[in-house]
Amino acid sequence: MQRTVHGAFCSWSHAVSSSTIRQCLKCRVPLQQSSRSYSVVPPPRDSEEKEMMHQILRVDHAGEYGANRIYAGQMAVLGRSKTGPLIQQMWDQEKKHLEKFNEILAENRVRPTVLLPFWNIAGFVLGASTALLGKEGAMACTVAVEESISEHYNSQIRVLMEKDPERYTDLLQVIKEFRDDEMDHHDTGLEHDAESAPGYWLLKNAIQLGCKAAIYVSQRI
Ligand SMILES: [Fe+2]
Ligand SMILES: [Fe+2]
Repeated sequence: MQRTVHGAFCSWSHAVSSSTIRQCLKCRVPLQQSSRSYSVVPPPRDSEEKEMMHQILRVDHAGEYGANRIYAGQMAVLGRSKTGPLIQQMWDQEKKHLEKFNEILAENRVRPTVLLPFWNIAGFVLGASTALLGKEGAMACTVAVEESISEHYNSQIRVLMEKDPERYTDLLQVIKEFRDDEMDHHDTGLEHDAESAPGYWLLKNAIQLGCKAAIYVSQRI
């Protein structure tokens, strides 16, 4: 069964475009009305929950935005190399992640971080500069960033599970799915010689320190 934007659905998953229609336009089956008026995040119960949710969504959006800019920077340097299609594949997934968070932010009227213009440049420069070290440098950057994002998503999953897994079930599903993609990207980086990058451990630690700082500030402003 498929839930439509207006919460009306038939068991054959035929889309229905108006909440005023009481039966499916294709099969004439009477429609059930979902009591849900939101797609992923429930309307906040109080100001505390609103604040928590805005922080979570703002930082996740910033992370996906930054990831997109990193892959854009990598592609600018390595796009026409043998590694190009692999980077493009990961970038395509990041585009979907960002699109989803754009949607969720709009639906819940969450302001994105004011640092977006900064992450725009910083992400691109990080992606391009590590790619200038070669394919291994780009992959080392991917391993560092994706490990940080996966850990960040895991800590959010823990928080939401402790608070109310039932209430946040849809958001948890989104975060878990994206976390799995990020872990795949991380593993792809390792499989493609990240560890052979010049100064791998130094590079990885420096990038992860940057990610920690980025997460800290993007939650708050
Ligand atoms: Fe992502
Ligand atoms: Fe990723």
